[in-house]
Amino acid sequence: MHELRIRKAVDADLQEIIRVWKSNIKTINTASDIADLFHSFKKYFFVLVATSAGMGFENNVIGFAGGAIRGGHGHISGIAVDEEYRMKGIGKDLLKTVEHEFIAKGFDKVTLEVRKSNRGAIGFYEKQGYKWQYIVKGYYADGEDAMVYEKKI
Ligand SMILES: CC(C)(COP(=O)(O)OP(=O)(O)OC[C@H]1O[C@@H](n2cnc3c(N)ncnc32)[C@H](O)[C@@H]1OP(=O)(O)O)[C@@H](O)C(=O)NCCC(=O)NCCS
Repeated sequence: MHELRIRKAVDADLQEIIRVWKSNIKTINTASDIADLFHSFKKYFFVLVATSAGMGFENNVIGFAGGAIRGGHGHISGIAVDEEYRMKGIGKDLLKTVEHEFIAKGFDKVTLEVRKSNRGAIGFYEKQGYKWQYIVKGYYADGEDAMVYEKKI
């Protein structure tokens, strides 16, 4: 029996966070970019792990959410769930956990960018109460536009 559990990320999770990030998010971020973000904003990084009941044994990370502070408010740098675990409420729980951490630290707003073509993530964010603000033309290194979203928390 596996129990899924969200907890704060620790240093030993970094390689798995990089794996989940790079295999699920279309990105040019290198492992070292992700490590820099992780080390700067560790307290806003959470992972979802599967734990075998009773044994305390932890499988690999199957999802993560990475927050940051940007411009005096909360920011979502990355969130992803391995494909076979999607649409089970995990992304929602991870996002809520980071939002609660922002609330606990006194922030009242969260922003994020998402690729214009990423309809799935856009649908997900809108369901979580994020409101579209504006487009940043050519935001991504490959030239794609970003949609900027915001949520008051
Ligand atoms: C975006 C992502 C993290 C969502 O994770 P998830 O665990 O599948 O999402 P959940 O199961 O918690 O979904 C929560 C809600 O969002 C909706 N949702 C999730 N994925 C969706 C999609 N692709 N299209 C439309 N709605 C979606 C769900 O239907 C659910 O709605 P409900 O609350 O009414 O039931 C996941 O799809 C993913 O890892 N995508 C690839 C990485 C990525 O693009 N990340 C964002 C850019 S940084």
